[in-house]
Amino acid sequence: MKRPTPVNEEVLFDGRSLISETDTKGIITYVNRKFTEMTGYTAAEAVGQPHSLLRHPDMPKAGFEQMWKVIESGKIWEGYVKNLRKDGKFYWVVVHIVPKLDESGKIIGYIASRKMPDRDRLKIVEEQYKELLAQEH
Ligand SMILES: Cc1cc2nc3c(=O)[nH]c(=O)nc-3n(C[C@H](O)[C@H](O)[C@H](O)COP(=O)(O)O)c2cc1C
Repeated sequence: MKRPTPVNEEVLFDGRSLISETDTKGIITYVNRKFTEMTGYTAAEAVGQPHSLLRHPDMPKAGFEQMWKVIESGKIWEGYVKNLRKDGKFYWVVVHIVPKLDESGKIIGYIASRKMPDRDRLKIVEEQYKELLAQEH
């Protein structure tokens, strides 16, 4: 799918339930209605795509590498994420990811929900991400 060109315009997340699920590789297997409203992608467009579909170029790689380490070890991860919508606008969320387990305890996928970011904390996070990004370039 063609990557949207980022435009510097934020859409505020209202905190209403925004859910997606992936397989163990991060391929989207389910999205709820709020996801489609917030991202601009229909369920048919999103399901089957890697979750990096929403990756914003302002997000440092290091954050996601650490995220995968945590969730692949079966733990819960939570962090601030700037996402790129289909229309190129962005939104900030606190993503909360839990592993989905089968009866034997094996990880079969992941479930992500989102919370509204704290705007003061967000200012600090933005600065940290800018520094990390600069180091990566
Ligand atoms: C359940 C789940 C939800 C995710 N949600 C997002 C998300 O909202 N935005 C995002 O950029 N990456 C999200 N990711 C991480 C992506 O899979 C990917 O690692 C990230 O976008 C970095 O892309 P890259 O690995 O191609 O550099 C999620 C991963 C999982 C397992």
